[in-house]
This record gives sequence, structure tokens and C-alpha cells, in this order.
Amino acid sequence: MTSFDANAQLQRTSVKLNAPLLYRTTYSWRVIQKFGKECIAKGDVLYGVLGPFKIYVITDPDDIYTVSNACLKKIWAYDLSKPWLGEALIRADVPIWKKHRKIINRAFVQDVIDQFIGVFNKESKLLVKDLIAKAGRGPFNPVDYLGNRAMEITFQTVMGISDSGDDVIHNHEYSRALQSLFNLYAQRFQSLWMHSPFLYNFSSLKKKEQDLISILHRTSDKIIQKKKAAYEKRLDNSDTINTSGKTFKAFLDLLIELPPEEAYTDKEIREEVDGMVVAAADTSATTLRSILVLIGSYPEVQNRAFEEVKEILGSTDREIEKHDLHKMVYLEAIIKETLRMYPTGPVQPRYATEDVQLKNYVLPAGTNCFMLVAAMQRNPDLWGPDANVFRPERWLDPSTLPENSNAFAAFSLGKRVCVGKAYTLLSMKTTLSYLLLNYHFTGDDTKLTHKLDIMLKPASGYEITITKRNRD
Ligand code: HEM
Repeated sequence: MTSFDANAQLQRTSVKLNAPLLYRTTYSWRVIQKFGKECIAKGDVLYGVLGPFKIYVITDPDDIYTVSNACLKKIWAYDLSKPWLGEALIRADVPIWKKHRKIINRAFVQDVIDQFIGVFNKESKLLVKDLIAKAGRGPFNPVDYLGNRAMEITFQTVMGISDSGDDVIHNHEYSRALQSLFNLYAQRFQSLWMHSPFLYNFSSLKKKEQDLISILHRTSDKIIQKKKAAYEKRLDNSDTINTSGKTFKAFLDLLIELPPEEAYTDKEIREEVDGMVVAAADTSATTLRSILVLIGSYPEVQNRAFEEVKEILGSTDREIEKHDLHKMVYLEAIIKETLRMYPTGPVQPRYATEDVQLKNYVLPAGTNCFMLVAAMQRNPDLWGPDANVFRPERWLDPSTLPENSNAFAAFSLGKRVCVGKAYTLLSMKTTLSYLLLNYHFTGDDTKLTHKLDIMLKPASGYEITITKRNRD
């Protein structure tokens, strides 16, 4: 079947695409939502035309799985970050991605991740301490508290930077530059004319980008060189001590210690480390922010979660260990349900380098495909009539979940699935446990609004109130 025959019935979206407005984050999120609803109503595949681009949008779980595996190339928009992230896994072109993904998978096996639990404990306790200032003081936005701690956890586990010693850079220069660069890319993405390299290269934004990138590269280079020198001289065997007194190897140490046949260049190490920080920190902090509003809006969910943690940990203030985390099934259900309703990657775009056969259509070579994960994850045909209701219990009973496991794709699907999934589940469960044991949360999810700021981000309604909890 040729793509022409197969696609004869394919409909063009009726959603009006206003190109300049599309680059406004709240507008683009509204458009994506409309796209999603229309796509589901009209058979799970549609196309739209945006300037010179023909874009396919898909919402069927099997088609999303097919495209995730058949189209490993990411779309042009990822190139905006190339001067900074180079060929980091999150944006790497396919030949390099293939080589590096095999190596990185080894750095994320359960045994390695388990060694980070000491860091998760330490930083979660510090978060509890940070939040004391807000207890009983009325509504506040927890964004900075969660963001700073997520960044600390990422620095310590990815780069192996401890919070003492002379290489303390976190939360200061690097962290600020990173946030500014995020904002800059969002700003560039939203200004259509700034996509032209010619216009961009003459803009003040370009100069600012270069300055920020040089801060980030300088800092990562310094840390890498120091770790490399230590490793080569075998001064400290590149081990980092965690709070439990055990040693663990940070992600950076693992890259430095690769055997010669797999070795990364210094530039590749830097790109991979920078990419990992980006992939890890904001996603986890944004998800935790959504979770706090949601458990604050559903007291029965919060009580059940608190009871689970109390039962597993007992009444003592002991460290959380890996066997505890594996028992926290309700906390995991809360995390998944939050990511079902508010996935940080609601649209996962890919580029088709060759024709791809979908269930009923053909995705032609040379087109962009937007996988509308957020819409799929709220499709009542898959998730039932309560698809728009926050109900973590659905994850505890397989018979209440969609038969097709591809209907949940918050960590993406297929070969480019998130490498940090197991890591982030342990990290978020640890943080949530400490928060639940120490505070009571109130929020109002009916006030939530969102924007598509590269990731799905809260636009308003994320204020919560906290009070100290009596554990009995
Ligand atoms: C709530 C937390 C997280 C969510 C929801 C999430 C989600 C995702 C999604 C949707 C993708 C695919 C992105 C795309 O195709 O453009 C992805 C890729 C990736 N994630 Fe995560 N992520 C999370 C946390 C993490 C963490 C903690 C790490 C590392 C420690 C991480 C590392 C990566 C990497 C390296 C990739 C690229 C994989 C590849 O292309 O082969 N993520 N993640």
C-alpha cells in the first residue's frame, strides 16, 4: 500500500493554528489539548499544516508505540540546544544515540540506583527543614524549595558533587545559569523569527546564550577535570561517601572509568552530564509540585499515603532503605496517577526518516509526528469514564487499568524511553515519605492552569498550605 492510498481518508485538523500565537506557552497548551480531543474523536490520527511543516498528530497507544520505536530521530526544535548539550542522550542524533544508550543503560541498573538512596534521604530531610519556615503561614508556591532540592539530588548523584568541599557550585552560579538558559530557550522557541539562525545570530539573545553556556561548560569542565585527575592518580578511586557511610559512584565517575574501547571524549562526557542534569532536575521537581497540590486536594488520598509510610517505617526517625521503598505501592500509584493526568512531556515529537505503517494510515517519510501523550492518558475509551478524575487506586488493581499498557507513556515508550524512570520513582518516594511524615498539605486542584514551556508547567493555582503533622 502506498502512503497516498493509505492516507486517502486522513483528515486535516479543524483546529485553527495561529503560528505567532502558537509560540505563547498558555496558548500552545490550549491548542495541544484541542488537537488531542479532536484527534481521539476522529480516529486517533490527524494532520495539520504549520507554515512549511506538515505535522501528524497521533493518540492511539499502538501507533504511539510504533512511532516511538520506528522514529528515533527527534524534531528540529531539539537542535536549539545543540550548542549547549551537543550529542547528550536526550537530544542525540541516532547513530551516536545508539552507541551511547547501551553504555548509559548500565549506569541506571537497579544496583547503581540503590546506592543513591543515601543522597535521597539526606536531601529530603533538608527539604523538610527548609519548609518549616512556611508551616502554618498560609498559601505559598513551593517551586523554589522543590527545585533547589531536586537540583541538589541531581548534582550529587549525576556529578558526584558533595555539599562540602571546594567544588560547591550547586545552587549558585551553575544553577542560576541553568535556569536562565531554560528561560532563554523557551523565549527563543516562542519567537518565530528567532528560529532563523541568521536573525538569531545578530540578536542580544544569542550573546546571552553564549555567556550562559560558557558558565555551564566551564563549571562542568572543572568538575570533570578534577574527577579525572583524581581517578588517573588513583588518589580517591573516584568514590563519593554517602550519608550512610557507604560509597557510591556518581554517573560522572562511571563515564570517566569506561574501558578504552567505549571511552567518551572530554566533550562527550560534559555533554552527557549536562544533558542528564536537564533531564532529571526539572521533571522531578515539577512532578512533585503537582503531587503536593493533588494530595492537598484529596484528603483521603493523603491519609492513605501517610498511613502507608507510617506502617512501613514505624514510629522511629530511621533512614529510608531500599526495601522500604519497594513496599510503597500507594505512593507509586500517586506518582503514576499524577503523571497520567499531568505528564511533564505531554507532547513527544519525532521525525520520520522513512514511511512508517500505523494501524490505519502511513506516516510518510520526511514528516514530523506529535505523539499526544497527555490526550491519550485521559482518553475515557482507554481509562474509563473517570479518566479525568485523580484516582491513584486505579493503579492498585490491574483490572481497572487499560488492557493496553502503552496507554501510559509519561516516561515515553520504546527504545528512547526515559533512562531515569526507576531512579526518579525511588527519589520521589523518598521525598514524599519525609514530607508526609512531617506535614499536612492543603491545595486546590480546581484552580490549576498550565502552560507548555518546553515541558508542561504550572501557570497558576500551585499554591499550597502546610501545617506540622502529629504522627499519631
Ligand atoms: C518525573 C520524572 C521524569 C519524567 C516524567 C521523565 C520523562 C521523560 C520523557 C517523556 C522522556 C522522553 C523525552 C523525549 O522523547 O523528548 C525522557 C527521556 C530521558 N530521561 Fe526522563 N523523566 C524523568 C526523570 C528523569 C531522571 C531523574 C533522569 C536521569 C537521572 C532522566 C533521564 C532521561 C534521559 C537521559 C532521557 C533521554 C533518553 C533517550 O533519548 O534515550 N529522566 N524522560
